[in-house]
Amino acid sequence: MSLRINDIAPDFTAETTQGTIKFHEWIGDGWAILFSHPKNFTPVCTTELGTMAGLEGEFRKRNVKIIGISVDPVESHGKWQDDIKTATGHSVNYPLIGDKDLKVAKLYDMLPGGAGETSEGRTPADNATVRSVYVIGPDKKIKLVLTYPMTTGRNFDEILRAVDSMQLTAKHQVATPANWKQGEDVIITAAVSNEDAIKRFGAYETILPYLRKTKQPSA
Ligand code: BEZ
Repeated sequence: MSLRINDIAPDFTAETTQGTIKFHEWIGDGWAILFSHPKNFTPVCTTELGTMAGLEGEFRKRNVKIIGISVDPVESHGKWQDDIKTATGHSVNYPLIGDKDLKVAKLYDMLPGGAGETSEGRTPADNATVRSVYVIGPDKKIKLVLTYPMTTGRNFDEILRAVDSMQLTAKHQVATPANWKQGEDVIITAAVSNEDAIKRFGAYETILPYLRKTKQPSA
């Protein structure tokens, strides 16, 4: 069965470009993003890993660690780094898991339908990981899951935006509307009465009885 939001992210031990890691221990008390790519030395993946490298500082500011994974061996990840820098201008300083035996890929349901059992003789179309993203909270629970096909590069600014929303809504009794960005008005959740809304947020606007908006609370 596939993993769902609120499930505990499965723990594992894996070889990475920064040594052996125990996943939960590596996450520590902060947030984490585990994201898979299909195959090293392929064009879309090269742009994706470089884009994540460029955003790493933004994620760090939010106490979010990043870790990539594919079924390529760790040595191959290492050899690919120069190409990523050449193509995107960014150095990959986050760890990459070499999941040769597909252990983590299977644990996190990252393989497409019809995938094989090992990485031997694979082609990108069969037992390579698809483009999965798991955002994991400090409680080790899964907060967000995304799955994209092989040929569509992800928008990692959207992951950053979603992290901003999740970190805000974890602290305050608010939700964020469609296309919300940092600093824009937020929605007061149904759990907050009108009386409490005034006490907590000061002024708010009632657009519909169930849609009340207020200024974004400060962190
Ligand atoms: C790519 O990164 O360009 C790619 C990888 C696997 C399948 C298709 C495209």
